[in-house]
Amino acid sequence: MNKRFMIKTKNVTISYQEYEKTDELHKDDRELVFAARETALNAYAPYSKFRVGAAIRLESGIIVCGANVENAAFPSGICAERSAISNIVSNHPNDKPTVIAIAALTEDGLTDETISPCGNCRQVIAEEESRCGNKIRIILAGKNKTLIIESISSLLPLQFNKSNLKINLP
Ligand code: THU
Repeated sequence: MNKRFMIKTKNVTISYQEYEKTDELHKDDRELVFAARETALNAYAPYSKFRVGAAIRLESGIIVCGANVENAAFPSGICAERSAISNIVSNHPNDKPTVIAIAALTEDGLTDETISPCGNCRQVIAEEESRCGNKIRIILAGKNKTLIIESISSLLPLQFNKSNLKINLP
């Protein structure tokens, strides 16, 4: 601690599980990874040629998917994760998301490395946790390697959320 200014240094640590092979995953998680990969095939990504799929399991067991949808006006495109969440809010507003799996395809096939949600999507996943009042597990699926993170707070520490607005939502 710096005595003159009373500055405290605090650390944020995150923990996640790493799997070397998709076969090692629990069968429900494996199913979700396959759904994310399948959905990536449907992406509309003519500009980046980077196709992403997100598959979200709801509390009822239903799996809702989304792919990235690009646009000639680049910022009008939407990522796979937000595409899936929009689908849930639109079609299953009272069924809580419990797990999201994310996978990506390039022209060479599934990415070897895992991909992680962009900043915008992290913020939207955080809002979804707060809307539903539960943590959403995040499965980042590479071709073989998989990372599992317990909640978006690990990917978005010190997040801005409704508690900062001091508004009471119904
Ligand atoms: N993309 C996603 O859909 N999800 C991610 O987690 C990262 C990036 C999309 C956005 C864009 O269409 C393409 O991948 C290249 O950035």
